[in-house]
Amino acid sequence: MKELCAIILAAGKGVRMKSALAKVLHPILGRPMISYPVDACRKAGAGEIVVVVGHLGEEVSRALGGGVTTVRQERQLGTADAVNAARGILAGREGTALILCGDTPLLTASTLSALLARHQDDGALVTVLTANLPDPKGYGRIVRDGAGKAVSIVEEKDANPAAKAIKEINTGTYAVNLPWLWETLRGISNANSQGEFYLTDMVAAAAGEGRVSTVPAADPAESMGINSRAQLAEAADAMRIRINREWMDAGVSFLDPSTALVEPGVELAEDITIGPSVMLTGNTRIGRNSVIEAGSIVNDTQIGEGVRIKPYSVLDGAELEDGVAVGPFANLRPGAKLMSGARVGNFVEIKKSTLGPGVKANHLSYIGDAEIGEGTNVGAGTITCNYDGKNKHRTVVGKGAFIGSNTSLVAPVMVGDGAIVGAGSTITRDVPPEALSVTRAPQKTIEGWKRRAVKKSGED
Ligand code: UD1
Ligand code: MG
Repeated sequence: MKELCAIILAAGKGVRMKSALAKVLHPILGRPMISYPVDACRKAGAGEIVVVVGHLGEEVSRALGGGVTTVRQERQLGTADAVNAARGILAGREGTALILCGDTPLLTASTLSALLARHQDDGALVTVLTANLPDPKGYGRIVRDGAGKAVSIVEEKDANPAAKAIKEINTGTYAVNLPWLWETLRGISNANSQGEFYLTDMVAAAAGEGRVSTVPAADPAESMGINSRAQLAEAADAMRIRINREWMDAGVSFLDPSTALVEPGVELAEDITIGPSVMLTGNTRIGRNSVIEAGSIVNDTQIGEGVRIKPYSVLDGAELEDGVAVGPFANLRPGAKLMSGARVGNFVEIKKSTLGPGVKANHLSYIGDAEIGEGTNVGAGTITCNYDGKNKHRTVVGKGAFIGSNTSLVAPVMVGDGAIVGAGSTITRDVPPEALSVTRAPQKTIEGWKRRAVKKSGED
């Protein structure tokens, strides 16, 4: 079989993260770090992807789910030993393997494709993705001969001053001829300053046959490896900027792209405007001409066309049809469905409820486990009392009804089409269609009360 495969190294401890969570599982924009190199390999055409795990391997395997093979490296004896752990799965295959590290989330599929193209064109046994860094400290250096051909990689800890002065580094990303790799790994020793089996020694072996190629990374920042929380934040920031750029190219406006965050799974249509400090996360989809204003957080939510989310609204698991307006300061919780043209204003919380077309709930309400019919007006301060301490109950309001301000709808209860509920009512029984229900206590007014009260106190 000649298809492209990939080996991703992720057995290292990641001590510098100071975390109980495996380094490669730390999230970047809502996804585990390791999912990025896996996706990049898949997009570059890799069929089988083998992830080498060790430290907290079970958790890493679980997080990767299906479509990826994990294999365990029992002891971390070095990168060559880690690759060797994949031998049992990939032995006997022809063709090329991509080898990369699980902690390089910024590496793109197009960079991997460029690496593969060079590898193919040059008929190389190994092609190394390199980068020129002003500060190459800590990386393996690419050593070249007088003719400029790469002859070996020297690790920082084994480097003499001349090698240390080299600015061209090994990013740890390679394209390798598979049968040759398994053969060559057998000859790699751990006779070096770290007592590790270095994968980088395969470069000297291939150079012996005159078949090493190198490709400089178009953007060295892509090969950044994450070792600390500070680098994690840096990578997340770079990823965020990259995603925002892509959406701008696709026709989305950002009022402040330096503060807006769009997770990778989000889908946006053309002519959307995104305000400062907006967060769009999870499986969120937004239709054309919609506006998400400052500070709003939208997760797992489906939004139609021409929708306006005013500032500081929080939407989670909601569905909004075309022309809906929400906020400022609205809280739409899972199961909130707003049909076309519905309007929800400030300090309104909606959970597991459907608001029909054109429904208005503009101020200070809680609507839970309810169904509100088309065109109904829900007055300020209306509350569905949906929970009796044990169970949740439903409230159903018909079409074209009017719920006066400060009404409590004690569920289960129904209000018929076209009915009116007077302000300040506590509705415990069904209201028939077209009826008026009021439960307000009659207002009592005592004339001259203040004057009489003063006089009374003066008498004592
Ligand atoms: C390695 C390269 C170095 C390169 C650098 C790029 C070697 C010998 N050196 O160095 O030339 O500049 O990457 O970042 O390969 N891992 C295992 N099992 C092991 C050891 C490592 O799975 O036994 C994994 C780690 O989890 C990590 C990757 O391999 O994802 C690289 O290991 P690391 O120890 O960070 O290598 P470096 O010393 O940085
Ligand atoms: Mg190391």
